[in-house]
Amino acid sequence: MSIKRVLSGIQPTSDSFHLGNYLGALKQWVALQDGHDAFYCIVDLHALTMETEPALMRKRTLASAAQLIALGISTDKSTLFVQSQVPQHNQLGWLMECMAGFGEANRMTQFKDKSSKTGADSVRVGLFTYPMLQAADILLYQADLVPVGEDQRQHIELTRDLAGRFNTRYGQTFTIPDGYILKTAAKINDLQEPTAKMSKSSGSAAGVIEILDSPEVNAKKIKSSMTDTGSEVRFNEKEKPGISNLLTIHSALSGATIAALENEFAGKGYGDFKGVVADVVVEYLAPIRSRALELLEDEKHLIDLLHKGAAKARTVAAGTLETAYKNLGTVA
Ligand code: TYM
Repeated sequence: MSIKRVLSGIQPTSDSFHLGNYLGALKQWVALQDGHDAFYCIVDLHALTMETEPALMRKRTLASAAQLIALGISTDKSTLFVQSQVPQHNQLGWLMECMAGFGEANRMTQFKDKSSKTGADSVRVGLFTYPMLQAADILLYQADLVPVGEDQRQHIELTRDLAGRFNTRYGQTFTIPDGYILKTAAKINDLQEPTAKMSKSSGSAAGVIEILDSPEVNAKKIKSSMTDTGSEVRFNEKEKPGISNLLTIHSALSGATIAALENEFAGKGYGDFKGVVADVVVEYLAPIRSRALELLEDEKHLIDLLHKGAAKARTVAAGTLETAYKNLGTVA
């Protein structure tokens, strides 16, 4: 049996990744490096669908690379690269746009959510075509598995549909990928608004745990997270969304089951529980933060690592694109 290919991507849209990114996706990126051929992409072109500052774009792309390495992505085991350094993404993106129906693209809930916030007049065309570029990211590498959080499920479905359609119409070209979405921790919620996902674009600053924030700031955010009614530490997303979210976070970081945590905190109040969750999070993130900050001191080294990844990615991507063009009947 041949070794399975993994691909995933993350946008460099914020100064730091958050705990939702880590638990929903990046933790699985790290785990899947072993035993798979993994390609991980910092999707800077996707970040252009929202207003960006050039200096911030550069800073955040490098901070993304530093965080990924700090939290366990090995550039020896995995191919870590920046999307804009592999031009085949845009090229296959166009082919995917020509495969997708307007109605189909219009049903993407992420587009609907984001565009309703921005307003129809200022929303960019790139936000609409975003999922087709994402499909290209995945299909270029013939990925079998795509580790992502729950919010990406619909984009993976679209990718599967587009790949299948292309293969049926033009002959076998793309592997049909499967999403790799955890049952628990696929959606980490905002600490202040625990029915909404933790998000760098929509969440409240106090509700988002950033990997690069100081331990003091993160501990305070957890201790002052939204309090549910009642006093028992029990998992019930409807009645206790805040406590359930904290239980999910503790469990995902410590490895303890939710049931074991409920037992441990039986008879104790929310305050005690939040204090312990704060300790677990801070202890887990502190070494990652230090390592990322250390890596950021040597930009040249980081850039060299990314160049090495892009060179390998381009070779694979060029092969797939060539097959796609050939199957389409373009004259080489
Ligand atoms: P992005 O950059 O918004 O998020 C990166 C990853 O983090 C996951 N995630 C979460 N998981 C659990 N709880 C949360 N609150 C939470 N917030 C974010 C996301 O599901 C994602 O896996 N469109 C993608 C980027 C992308 C991509 C790709 C992904 C572009 N091309 C190809 C996979 C394959 C996005 O915006 O992720």
